[in-house]
Amino acid sequence: FTPGTTALRGRLLTFLRAPQGPGDRDSYQYIADGLVLVKDGRIAAVGAAADLLPTLPAGMGVDHYPDGLILPGFIDTHIHFPQTQVIASYGAQLMEWLEKYTFIEEQRYADHAHASRNARFFLDELARNGTTSAVVYGSVHPGSVKALFTEAEARGVGLVAGKVMMDRHAPTALTDTAQTSYEHSKALIGAWHGVGRQRYAVTPRFAITSTPAQLEAAGALLREHPGVYLQTHLSENHEEIRQVAGLYPEATDYLDVYDRFGLLGDRSLFGHCIHLSEREMARMHETASIAVFCPTSNLFIGSGLFDRAALENPARPVRLGLATDVGGGTSYSLLRTAGEGYKVLQLRGQSWPALAAFDLMTRGNAAALGLTGEIGQIAPGRYADLVVLDPSSTPAMAYRREAIQGDLEEELFLLMTLGDDRAVRATYIQGQRVHVRD
Ligand code: GUN
Ligand code: ZN
Repeated sequence: FTPGTTALRGRLLTFLRAPQGPGDRDSYQYIADGLVLVKDGRIAAVGAAADLLPTLPAGMGVDHYPDGLILPGFIDTHIHFPQTQVIASYGAQLMEWLEKYTFIEEQRYADHAHASRNARFFLDELARNGTTSAVVYGSVHPGSVKALFTEAEARGVGLVAGKVMMDRHAPTALTDTAQTSYEHSKALIGAWHGVGRQRYAVTPRFAITSTPAQLEAAGALLREHPGVYLQTHLSENHEEIRQVAGLYPEATDYLDVYDRFGLLGDRSLFGHCIHLSEREMARMHETASIAVFCPTSNLFIGSGLFDRAALENPARPVRLGLATDVGGGTSYSLLRTAGEGYKVLQLRGQSWPALAAFDLMTRGNAAALGLTGEIGQIAPGRYADLVVLDPSSTPAMAYRREAIQGDLEEELFLLMTLGDDRAVRATYIQGQRVHVRD
C-alpha cells in the first residue's frame, strides 16, 4: 500500500467537539468550498479552496466534488467479521439467533482460505459504505484475525480487532480453553498490536460463553499489554441477563461480572448496554468504559431500546460509541445506523440531532477509541481517511433537498434518514481513493 499525495475539493465538514444540541454552530467547522491537501497519506492542510489552490505543488491533481460533502471517514465501533453471511437471518432473539445461525456459520472460519476471501469482501463492503476504520470481532480461530489484519494492512486500513474467546456454552468446534485463548490472544497481540495501523482488542464474547478462568485470562492479557482494547457484549437481552445471573451468582449485576476480572476501563467497549441499572451506569462512568449503541441490531434481534438520555445523564455521563453490529445489525452503513438510532430514541421519547449523530460516527467514535489524534477529524496530522457524500443520491433525496434550501443540519438529517451506500460518492484511505460510486 502506498499512501497518497493529493488534494480533494468540495464542501468540508468536521466536528470539533460533541454538539450540545441542534444549532450548535461552534461544534463543527464547515467550509462551503474547501480543500484538503494530503501528503503521504496524512492531512497536511485544510482551508478555503481559494486560499489553498495557489499553494499546491505544480501538477498536483485535485479531485473536485462540487456538491459533495467531504467528511472524516466513518468509524464502526462494533462489527463481526464472520457474520457477513449471517446478516438477515430470520426470526430469532439473541440466544436462539446465536445457536441457530451464528455458531453454525462461525465454524467455517477454521478454513483460512474462507477467512481470507471474507476479509476481502468485508473491507470492500466497509469502503463502499464510507467506513474507514472499525472495531471487529473475529471468530474463535486466530487465523480469522490474522487474515483480517493481513488484508487491512495491505489496504492501509486501521482496524482494532481480536479473536473471540469462548470456552463454554458453544459448539465444541467453536470453543477454546482459558489457557489456549490466553496463548492465542497473546501471540496475536505480539504479531499485530501496534504493527502498521493495526491494534488488538481482547475479545471474550460475553459472560455466558466464558468461564471465570477465561475472564481471568482476559484480565491478565489487559494487565500485561497496556494499550490493547477490550470488547465484549453487555446487557443486550433479558434472557441473556437472567443466564448471566445464574452463572455468576456472586456478581452484583452483569457489569460486575466483567468488573471483578479487571475488564473495565477507558479502552473497554461494551456492545449494546440496553438494560443497565443505575449502579451499572455509574460504574461505567467511574471507569470511563464505553457503551456502544447498535440500533439496527437492537431492533432486528428485538433486544430493546438504548437509553441515550439515561447513559448521558450529566451527573455521571457514560462515554458512547455507535456501531452497526453486523450480522445482528442489518446494514454496513453508518448512515442507515444513525437513521435507525434516531427511531430507537424516538420510541424512548428522546431525540438525536443530526449534528450529534454525525459527530458520533466520526469524531465521537474516534474519541471513544482514544484516537482523535489519528482519525475522525479533517485536520492536519490526521490520516486522510475521508468519505465524500452525495446528498442527492436518490430521486427522493434530491427532491426533498429542494425544500431544504442549503440548510446544513437538515441536509445531514436527510442523509441519515434516507441515505445509504448510494450516498457514498467516494471513499479515501490515507489519501488513496479506494471506492468510487459507479
Ligand atoms: N452476544 C454474544 N455474541 C453476540 C453476537 O455475535 N451478536 C450480538 N448481537 N450479541 C451477541
Ligand atoms: Zn456484537
